[in-house]
Amino acid sequence: MHDSATDALTDVQTEALISHIRTRYHDTHRREFPDLIRLARKVETTHATDPNTPHGLTHALEVMIAELEAHMHEEEEIIFPAARTGAAGLATAAIPGLRSAHDAHEAALNQIAAITHGFRLPLNACRSWRRLYHGLGKLAEDLDEHIYLENEVLFPRLGTQA
Ligand SMILES: [Fe+2]
Ligand SMILES: [Fe+2]
Repeated sequence: MHDSATDALTDVQTEALISHIRTRYHDTHRREFPDLIRLARKVETTHATDPNTPHGLTHALEVMIAELEAHMHEEEEIIFPAARTGAAGLATAAIPGLRSAHDAHEAALNQIAAITHGFRLPLNACRSWRRLYHGLGKLAEDLDEHIYLENEVLFPRLGTQA
């Protein structure tokens, strides 16, 4: 039986979910990326000869951020509007690719965790180094929650399962 009250509730919940993903995760990542890149470059340059220096971090971070930006753009252009209108169509076809991108983001984060020795600071770490690893730890947590909400809550509403 068609229940319009339930449909309306679902629409409100979907709208709230999209708005939460957009403001709490997409906007937050975008706000924090430039500082992370700046700090990574500074630490790699200033402490170039320190054995604890996260060599290759700036490059790894730049690549990951570029991929994440393209991915978030695709979600905003294709997935969010489809979820709002309930017209899944093309959006459903895009979801397997978006799920694999999530796996790639997780792999990139693992690589960054390896470069930074699990975000473990050396005893002599300067303020920038501390801010950098703190920021990367936050990015890892945010991204984990962000991906969970999309894979397990948003995408299934468009009629696809993992
Ligand atoms: Fe997203
Ligand atoms: Fe995503």
